[in-house]
Amino acid sequence: MAKTHAIRARRLTKRFGAVVALDGVDLDVAPGQIHGLVGPNGAGKTTLLGLLLGLAVADGGSLEILGTPVERALATPDGTAGFVDGPAFYPSLTARQNLAALADLDGRRVRAAQLDHVLDQVGLTDVADDRTRGFSLGMRQRLGLAAALLSEPRLLVLDEPANGLDPAGAKHVHGVLTRLAAAGTSVLLSSHRMDDVEALCSEVTILATGRVVFSGPLRKLATEHRELDYRLVTSDPDAARRLAADAAGVRVTTTVITRYDTEVLTVTARTPALDDLVVRLVHAGVAVRELAPVVSPLEAAFLALTGQREVAR
Ligand SMILES: Nc1ncnc2c1ncn2[C@@H]1O[C@H](COP(=O)(O)OP(=O)(O)OP(=O)(O)O)[C@@H](O)[C@H]1O
Ligand SMILES: [Mg+2]
Repeated sequence: MAKTHAIRARRLTKRFGAVVALDGVDLDVAPGQIHGLVGPNGAGKTTLLGLLLGLAVADGGSLEILGTPVERALATPDGTAGFVDGPAFYPSLTARQNLAALADLDGRRVRAAQLDHVLDQVGLTDVADDRTRGFSLGMRQRLGLAAALLSEPRLLVLDEPANGLDPAGAKHVHGVLTRLAAAGTSVLLSSHRMDDVEALCSEVTILATGRVVFSGPLRKLATEHRELDYRLVTSDPDAARRLAADAAGVRVTTTVITRYDTEVLTVTARTPALDDLVVRLVHAGVAVRELAPVVSPLEAAFLALTGQREVAR
């Protein structure tokens, strides 16, 4: 039997007055998949995640969560947990008391050991008995994740979960999500950090002004057939520039001398043309010291598909 999708959305539409926040969105998330949702500010990410958490109802389309069609009532579908726009807490209660209060609101009894476990999972054991009033943004994000984990969800919906986390905290959260997914929990998360999405997600959906402009495995964004900009540093920049200018399918876009006096060429090419250039450079006795895409395939696709121009760097 085919496995039930964690999320199956078809032609989802959501309007706020004249603003069409979601315009016919299709989304499939498989069990145990970590799926990234990216898009420029105002693209509709939070709106979509809010529909999945039952915080609002769609104006049109259909939505199935964990195999159950979501009707028009406002309610968090069973087995789903998460937050949008940053989690909210009672400032005068401690982290532990907040978790207990949230579970209570949901009508769930939790044992002290469960609270200890989720606090430990997100790395908040040391501040478990501190009031959340003094919590930093990163600590609040971790507590939001702990609250979501407490219900042992089969689908976790997280709006920018890494926002405000320091690099160690982000890595910690990555570990938590990866382990959950390995145990079968599906995760849908939005992020503005392409490197986070690349590290965590097997599939990604790119939204632009309420429409899906790409959805699928990250490997589909592979560079083989796409022209990308590459940084090229060699032992002989003048010779490299001449060879690149003569090579079929390669354009030299810019030459920059860095603060370390290194001359960096930016060349634009598809992978096969780039391979030819490297062979020519080596045959001509020019050593290649650095060759890497200026932006990752995901970021390149994001910029191209959302109509955003790359900021010069
Ligand atoms: N409650 C609301 N009332 C009116 N308009 C809204 C409301 N919520 C969202 N919108 C509008 O819907 C569109 C999508 O907003 P949304 O918050 O979903 O974007 P987003 O992708 O999460 O952006 P960001 O990256 O800035 O978080 C925007 O044009 C926004 O102004
Ligand atoms: Mg948002």
